Amino acid sequence: MHNQVTFTLADEEATINLGAKLANFLLTALNKVEQRALSVNLEGDLGAGKTTLSRGLLHSLGYVGTVKSPTYTLVESYQVPDHNLEVFHFDLYRLLDPEELEFMGIRDYFAKKAICLIEWPDRGFGLLPEPDLKITICHQSEGRLVTISSQIFTKEELDALV
Ligand SMILES: Nc1ncnc2c1ncn2[C@@H]1O[C@H](COP(=O)(O)OP(=O)(O)OP(=O)(O)O)[C@@H](O)[C@H]1O
Ligand SMILES: [Mg+2]
Repeated sequence: MHNQVTFTLADEEATINLGAKLANFLLTALNKVEQRALSVNLEGDLGAGKTTLSRGLLHSLGYVGTVKSPTYTLVESYQVPDHNLEVFHFDLYRLLDPEELEFMGIRDYFAKKAICLIEWPDRGFGLLPEPDLKITICHQSEGRLVTISSQIFTKEELDALV
């Protein structure tokens, strides 16, 4: 059974702020896992805010520069020297065949101290690890509704994200 929390993100700024809070969470959690990445599945329709959330997370970790979805490649790599880690931002929207993930050596990305953010993870079904966090963002008439579920965080910890 996963712990879960659902709440509203009123505007883009709220989405960015959530990314920043998640960054802190993940940094703490990274210290508890042995030589593996933490993986975050980002689900939701086109334009839901998955990349916006990723941008908030990367900027709060100290990455200075543009954060946009990788288009011609499936993954964008970011060095985060402040925290001695890498962030890999996948966008699998254009993935035609999950086998492409095998060819790019997908396992290696999850085998080091890193945070893996994955947009459209369903496209890679069967080749991606179970996520440590699953974040689903839904359009609302105004703003977005976000649901975060996880086994590695307690209900109390997830509630602190609201
Ligand atoms: N909480 C929010 N309320 C209203 N608008 C928001 C909110 N969060 C983000 N947005 C806006 O919604 C859009 C989200 O675009 P973004 O590229 O982040 O979506 P995406 O989920 O990555 O889409 P795609 O699947 O196409 O990659 C942006 O224009 C952003 O300003
Ligand atoms: Mg995107």
